[in-house]
Amino acid sequence: VTRALAALALAVLLAGCGGDTKSDAQKPVTPAAPAAAPAQPPMTPAPAPAPPAPAPSGSLRGDASAGAALYRQYCTTCHGPGGKGDGPVAATLNPKPANHSDHVYMATLSDERLYQVISKGGASVGKSPMMAPWGGVINDQGIKDLIAFLRQLSSS
Ligand code: HEC
Repeated sequence: VTRALAALALAVLLAGCGGDTKSDAQKPVTPAAPAAAPAQPPMTPAPAPAPPAPAPSGSLRGDASAGAALYRQYCTTCHGPGGKGDGPVAATLNPKPANHSDHVYMATLSDERLYQVISKGGASVGKSPMMAPWGGVINDQGIKDLIAFLRQLSSS
């Protein structure tokens, strides 16, 4: 009898906490929109207190201040704190990391190009593979935020 009771208690315990497998809701990292589809559905972000708009925002430009934080976290080791391509790791790299404060150069890169190179890496556009693909690390919004920050950094 005690065995049966113990089994019952165990079953109740298990029922209490079982079956609740946390489905780790991974954020889908949406790939870059195909270049052939410029008319994106209006993906209105959650209404947030409007940050001082740094640049006329196109659809691939997110929030520059959020981008600045991401940039500090992931990009400055190579590109340098001011984006000049002079981060601590830069000396070991050839070709050198791009100078993101170079207005003339940055102005030649479209938002789509920036999205592509950040998401899919330098190799995807015939550039150095040392410029890694960040699409698995930084989500769609983060990449857009980075693009906004790069535009601010280079006033391009
Ligand atoms: C490990 C070093 C390294 C890190 C970290 C790094 N980059 Fe780069 N990046 C490079 C190098 C090297 C190049 C130059 C590639 C070339 O000219 O062939 C480059 C080039 C670029 C370019 C110019 C691409 C072009 O088309 O000319 C952009 C934009 C860029 N990086 C953005 C970023 C962003 C945003 C981050 C952070 C999320 C980042 N990079 C992190 C090394 C790095």
